[in-house]
Amino acid sequence: MGVSTQTLDAGWAALKRSMMFYRGKAVGTAAACDETVDPLNYDQCFTRDFAVSAIAFLLRGETEIVRHFLEVTLELQSRERRMNYFKPGLGVMPASFKVVHDSDEEHLDSDFGEQAIAKVAPIDAVFWWLILLKLYTSASGDTAFAQQWNVQKGIRYILDLCLTNRFDLFPTLLVPDGSFMIDRRMGVYGYPLDIQVLFFGALRAARSLLRPSGENIEYAKAVSERITDLTYHIRQYYWLDVEQLRQIYRYRSDEFGLASDNHFNIYPDAIPTWLESWITDNGGYFVGNVGPGQMDFRWFAQGNLLSIVVGLADKPEGHEILNQIEGRWSDLVSAMPIKACYPALEGRDWEMVTGCDPKNTPWSYHNGGSWPFMLLWLALAAMKLKRNALAEQALQLAAKRLEIDQWPEYYDGRCGRLIGKDARLFQTWTIAGFLATHDLLNDPDKLSWFNFENTIVGPH
Ligand code: GLC
Repeated sequence: MGVSTQTLDAGWAALKRSMMFYRGKAVGTAAACDETVDPLNYDQCFTRDFAVSAIAFLLRGETEIVRHFLEVTLELQSRERRMNYFKPGLGVMPASFKVVHDSDEEHLDSDFGEQAIAKVAPIDAVFWWLILLKLYTSASGDTAFAQQWNVQKGIRYILDLCLTNRFDLFPTLLVPDGSFMIDRRMGVYGYPLDIQVLFFGALRAARSLLRPSGENIEYAKAVSERITDLTYHIRQYYWLDVEQLRQIYRYRSDEFGLASDNHFNIYPDAIPTWLESWITDNGGYFVGNVGPGQMDFRWFAQGNLLSIVVGLADKPEGHEILNQIEGRWSDLVSAMPIKACYPALEGRDWEMVTGCDPKNTPWSYHNGGSWPFMLLWLALAAMKLKRNALAEQALQLAAKRLEIDQWPEYYDGRCGRLIGKDARLFQTWTIAGFLATHDLLNDPDKLSWFNFENTIVGPH
């Protein structure tokens, strides 16, 4: 596939260096192994980052590290019903953990956001955990692991967390700012697309893994209902293409009652000026956020690409999402796959929305920076829709720079040509995303593991 063995070997060696061991077993990967800077929390194993490493390992047949990760994080899952709001709620999974060595003893130190910069809650961790459990089961064929009572209990705790208590009346999940890969203030509170897509993927994973007996039956029913309502809600209210834009532009507002067309009371004046010319004739995407009086028209990579992977986008929508990326390649991909979001917040918007965050300046980091790990999401989405050439093109772009640049965490600039201002080198998910993309393109049959429609429960 045109990637040199030297680059692949260098990548594997770097990925192996990031492995973390606990009681003699590999249990995860550190976020980065950059010895030139203070590690801060990059020496921890982040759940979302490990999802990318896990896929690379699974594709190489190294399934044990993924099971060990699932086991140790299950041990760390919050298991107490607490009234103390400084502690994580029942069922929450850690954002990250690390192995601490005290004299002869080893223990795990987890972070549920209390140590993280700005104390962000890692809401995506529970979803990634379920998605990984499904991928591990599909890849290894080990259906017995997910059926163990403690794993089934862990799944139910997560479902309790997401399906029961709430204030609002939508099938989507209401979350605070920075609760996923974008873990800083970026105006992504409310109902951000990324979280809804991960939620959907996790619900589908849970449905396929829940043993259909006893109290699970009620959970499975609730999961199925939520999947149906969530699917309708996202496709109906988040989808944007030229036709939909034309309708929003002529929306009537302040309609009262159940039969309103403008369900969320979006005011047409809120449509940003860049949008009309930016959206392509044959393209479309799910907008970043929808809530009362709010539509965030920004384009976000992860949510859109994963919507194809987990099957939230139907086939025509999936193709339109990829058409939009192809049609606006120089904005969204250019020198390095792929921008986290588009366009960047600038000027007063940047001041107000990020709180003047110097890391998230325009076209940097989460604010329009390019994240090579998402090459894997782009490749998976393209391959699912049998557009492998797109995946290969993106892999070739990444291959040109990643090894020479020492696998940076992210790139800056409108074209993604600059190594990110504060980017770590030897960032693990950059390396793993590249290797996994390469391996998947060479062995496309393994795409079947990513079929989220499958029922994979074993004998019962
Ligand atoms: C940064 C990223 C976050 C990632 C973490 C570890 O905080 O924003 O998404 O999980 O680094 O790589």
